[in-house]
Amino acid sequence: MSGPTPRKGIMDIRPYKPGSSEAPGIEKPAKLSSNENPLGASPKAIEAYKTCADSLHLYPDGAWVKLRESIAARYELDAERLVCGAGSDEILQMVGKAYLNPGEAILRSEFGFLVYGLVAKQSLADIQVAEEKNCTADVDALLAAVTDKTRVVFVANPNNPTGTYLPASEIRRLHAGLPENVLLVVDEAYAEYMRRDDFETALPMASQFPNVLVTRTFSKIYGLAALRLGWAYGPADVIGALNRVRGPFNVSVPAQAAGAAAIHDLEFEERSVEHNEQWRPWLEREIAKTGLKVTPGYGNFVLVHFDPEGAKTADAADNFLKSKGLIVRPLQPYGLGDALRMTVGTEDENRRLAAALQEFVSGA
Ligand SMILES: Cc1ncc(COP(=O)(O)O)c(C=O)c1O
Repeated sequence: MSGPTPRKGIMDIRPYKPGSSEAPGIEKPAKLSSNENPLGASPKAIEAYKTCADSLHLYPDGAWVKLRESIAARYELDAERLVCGAGSDEILQMVGKAYLNPGEAILRSEFGFLVYGLVAKQSLADIQVAEEKNCTADVDALLAAVTDKTRVVFVANPNNPTGTYLPASEIRRLHAGLPENVLLVVDEAYAEYMRRDDFETALPMASQFPNVLVTRTFSKIYGLAALRLGWAYGPADVIGALNRVRGPFNVSVPAQAAGAAAIHDLEFEERSVEHNEQWRPWLEREIAKTGLKVTPGYGNFVLVHFDPEGAKTADAADNFLKSKGLIVRPLQPYGLGDALRMTVGTEDENRRLAAALQEFVSGA
């Protein structure tokens, strides 16, 4: 008896491994492995979440009307062209279900977010990869990699795990070079953190073009990772396709209520940005002082490079940090085995992290 056989290709998928949350022997380690918000969650969202306790027996609104109206009001969007998901992850999965046939392909940049490859594999689609320059997506390489099999191009802006970004002009150039039947997904999970003059959200492009979808998440800037909530904005036809492949009640009542409140909590959003603007550059500077190479990034995390061999590898650093109760993210699955990604934490966590890295580098 061998039991039921999964669909072709399913067992070839390497399951997504989330950031670790445990450091053996340490009771309350600092979890800097999943780019969560060190300030916690939006207080307005917590308040709204609590009001849901009396209605847990009722199904959620399967069309997320209030949530969509809140998002639309905040960003001046057409509420009819929004789709919501259990995390933006679910929306990325919807894209695969709706747009990829076996044998077709997605295109991503070399160190693009891992989930894009999972989405492809779930649909038996191929993964096309364009090399990056200095850990940054390269539009020429992306355009050169497009073939007649390419159906979806995924670009995270800024990207995880590198933290690098493409200026608005480059995103527009990428779009202009793509055939109209290729969907450009601009994943803006960290866009709210961006404070660069040449960065722009691609939301206006998603309003204008028939083949641009922008995804966002409540997991980062609003601190609602536990609730699983994301949204996307795009052309009516694309939204219509995504709505056909999702679960009927895919976003829970508390998630919808908390999201609708969080998106108008500008005070918390600003506080989160300010904290990040203070501590990400601080971490980058302090870590660079140890002699370690840091890729300048713009998300809520830093990318630190280590020696490929010897006593000061990323693996050794990861173990050392763990022994100090600091959990960071190894990046072998990204092909960045010599680097670690570290979330910007609380002031105390950041100071401990910088001190531990200094100790690691100067240790025998
Ligand atoms: C680039 C990027 N996109 C999407 C996601 C998914 O976020 P969520 O499913 O929590 O909305 C993440 C999470 O880390 C991310 O880094």
